Amino acid sequence: MDHFKYKGDSLFAEDLTVSDIAARYGTPCFIYSRATLERHYRVYAEALAGHPHKICFAVKANSNLGVLNVLARLGAGFDIVSGGELDRVLTAGGDASNIIFSGLGKTTNEIRKALDVGIHCFNVESEAELSRINEIAQAEEKIAPISVRVNPNVDAGTHPYISTGLKENKFGIPASNAIDLYRNAAKMDGISIMGIDFHIGSQLTTVEPFLDAIDRILEMVDKLDEEGIKISHFDMGGGLGVPYGKEEPPHPSELIALVREKFTGREMEIVVEPGRSIAANAGIFVTRIEYLKKSEQKNFAIVDGAMNDLIRPALYGAWQEIVPVEKSSKAAAVYDVVGPVCESSDFLGKDRELNIAAGDLLAVRSAGAYGFVMSSNYNTRPRVAEIMIDCSDSYLVRERETVAELFANEYMLPD
Ligand code: LLP
Repeated sequence: MDHFKYKGDSLFAEDLTVSDIAARYGTPCFIYSRATLERHYRVYAEALAGHPHKICFAVKANSNLGVLNVLARLGAGFDIVSGGELDRVLTAGGDASNIIFSGLGKTTNEIRKALDVGIHCFNVESEAELSRINEIAQAEEKIAPISVRVNPNVDAGTHPYISTGLKENKFGIPASNAIDLYRNAAKMDGISIMGIDFHIGSQLTTVEPFLDAIDRILEMVDKLDEEGIKISHFDMGGGLGVPYGKEEPPHPSELIALVREKFTGREMEIVVEPGRSIAANAGIFVTRIEYLKKSEQKNFAIVDGAMNDLIRPALYGAWQEIVPVEKSSKAAAVYDVVGPVCESSDFLGKDRELNIAAGDLLAVRSAGAYGFVMSSNYNTRPRVAEIMIDCSDSYLVRERETVAELFANEYMLPD
């Protein structure tokens, strides 16, 4: 459920027409719906109510300050993977004590900063990282709260680039080594053991991989308990999929209800790190058709948005729905919707039946997660504007870049 709906022939973002928003802010642009973000967050909050929990939005999915601020106001926690994301969360009003620090290459500076501000937990990904965190904590006379990311070796059944819980993936610590790592951690003066975590992949469309992983990790929690190592939070990562097209992922409330059954009689805090399932369907990418072009075999709609703005189709062959912003009775044809970037992989969608003419606006749906955050300046294209809609108000939450900004930090050699 989102708040991008047609009323008559016009696509609306909450109470505003997408046409009016595009006329005001220009194209291409990302448009987010505050009501949708809030609704998706609340679905998790309601499903977890009554059990100790933290909902830590995966900042990598959408790190715009406006988006983070909307979630921070609801009391969200945040899952970060860099010092940059830490700064964003704090700037957006997020509470340090609700931050989880994931990622396998944390630098000394990042660890120090996170310790200084007092984050909730470091999700540790290797023995070497654990030692580094311990050394830094001791030097600063602090105790670092940690969780160990265990690789449960389950197949998430998703795209290989976004599958992370298999033996061959670079993430986490093999289950066979995890207990030893906890034993070592328990002896370290700068470390306090808080939790255990896993994250098996993204865009999962069934509950089984989550439930399998939970069973495996709970077994480990019990083994640790027998050794006197107490785990106070259980972080099941993110990864729940969204319906981009015909997929039918479980609703978050359905997944969480099944998860809660596994925690009957267990007091451990449940931590979740959803990114896509909160942000994807809370955003659209709007682009204008510059030209229509016919080749011998294909019709192309050449639009002003491109792979540098929204790379998921080019990078993963991802399918995202493309709809006209104003429905019309123009003749239908099948188009590849392509951008102006000089790569054959520069497409937003292929073989789409559309009733369109040059000058029309198109909306790529489900673009609120892994959209703007993965954009680049390839072909010296300024990154686009981001706009947040709140009922009938619109707010520019990121200015469109200018070309001058793109090379402001570059220098030519002296004469
Ligand atoms: N926690 C950890 C440790 C993660 O690595 C991720 C995502 C998440 C949480 C959030 O997962 P989500 O709920 O969003 O599935 N760029 C790709 C997705 C990469 C996901 C990376 N990790 C895409 O556009 O499909």
